[in-house]
Formats: sequence, structure tokens, C-alpha cells
Amino acid sequence: MPKDVIIACDFPSKEICLDFVSKFKDEKPFLKIGMELFYAAGPDMIKAIKDQGLKIFLDLKLHDIPNTVKSAMAVLSKLDVDMCNLHAGGGIPMMEAALEGLTRPDGTRPLLIAVTQLTSTSDEILHRDLLIPNSMEETVAHYAMNAKKAGLDGVVCSPLEAQKVHELCGAGFVTVTPGIRFADGAKGDQVRVTTPALARELGSDYIVVGRPITQAADPVEAYRRCVAEFVG
Ligand code: C5P
Repeated sequence: MPKDVIIACDFPSKEICLDFVSKFKDEKPFLKIGMELFYAAGPDMIKAIKDQGLKIFLDLKLHDIPNTVKSAMAVLSKLDVDMCNLHAGGGIPMMEAALEGLTRPDGTRPLLIAVTQLTSTSDEILHRDLLIPNSMEETVAHYAMNAKKAGLDGVVCSPLEAQKVHELCGAGFVTVTPGIRFADGAKGDQVRVTTPALARELGSDYIVVGRPITQAADPVEAYRRCVAEFVG
């Protein structure tokens, strides 16, 4: 499994994003584009980044009826992105339909990753609002196994959960892990954080790093530090 660092491009506009990307002259980082930027700048910006030879994780977290998700995924696969995601809470038929929609006529497709439970979902929300009586750990494990059953490639999780996910779903089941901070860096609003080096030790396949790179005085240097610690 290739290990890589994915930069979370949580920027409000295409101009700011492309200006950030232009700082990288020697390397071609893997970028995560989320809802804010995609809804603001759309497919044109994806194309502009892909034309520069960079990889994109399009983080739109789809969750709808299977037919709608299938059609939406077919559109995303035409954007030539490298990774997309959905909510495992949509169920196995929705995940299977997503895979079908994502698969291009030549049989290739972007990686498809599931969100199990959002990290913003507390135990209280799980039990009181979602009416799920099981523990968060059991729910996350069950949703990860559902994603595996549906044929997905992996899940978004904490590096602290990567080992458990690999035990349950196999070593080849991809773990995409945010919540990364340098040992000497600010945590911001993240609670359970892991350094790139520890994420590597714990078996993460991809680390998602936002502010430690995007807000750094020298983002290219911060990216290189992440790659050196995580990929080696
Ligand atoms: O700036 P920071 O490194 O905290 O950015 C982490 C990125 O990963 C953000 O885009 C955030 O939305 C995303 N993410 C996360 N935790 C999750 C899922 C996604 O931090 N459980």
C-alpha cells in the first residue's frame, strides 16, 4: 500500500487554492478538496489542478438513495479525481451503487472511502439523536466492515484506530487518517492528535494534514517535513 500525505485544502476560493498550489514547484502533492471549495469553485478548479498533474481526494461525503449516489459518482469519476468518499450510514446497497457509478467504462475508478461516524458525533448524539444503542467503537467497527462488504477501498479514521480497522478488514483496506499535528505544533480544534511519525508506526496509509501545512510560514517546508516523517 503506497503511503502518502494528503493536504486538506480548506480554502474559500479557487484563487487562494491555486495560489497555494503554485508554491509547490518540485513536488506534486495529493490534495483534499472539500465541500466549501467544491461548491464555490466546482469542476473547473478540479480540472485546473488535475492539469498540473496533482492527485485529488474529493471529500464530498455523499449520502442519499442508491440511485442518486450512483449517478452523482458517475459524474465525479469523469472529473478524473483519485479518491472520493461517502457516508457508510447510507447502507450497503448505497455503497454498492456508488462503486458501480464510480467505475469508468474502461474498468478504472477512483478509490472509494467511507466515513463511519463523524468525529463531531459524541456518544450522546449517537444514543440520543441517532438512536444507536451500541458504543461508538462498535458502531465504527461495524460500519467499516459494512464498507468492506460493499467492496469499498477503506475508511476515514483516526490513526489511533488504523490498526483495529486493518485487523477487522484486512491489511489492504485503506486507512485515511486526519487529526495530524507536529509534536511542536498547535492542536487547534483537533482533540485526539497524532504526529506523522506516530501515524506511520500505527499503520495509517494516508495522513490528511490541513493547517499544519496550509497555515505554516513555509508550507512547502512543512509538507516536506510531513513526508519525511510519514513516508520516510
Ligand atoms: O487543519 P486540519 O489538519 O485539522 O484538517 C483536517 C482535515 O481533515 C479537515 O479538512 C477536516 O475537515 C478533515 N477531517 C477531520 N476529521 C475527520 C474527518 C475529516 O479532521 N474525522
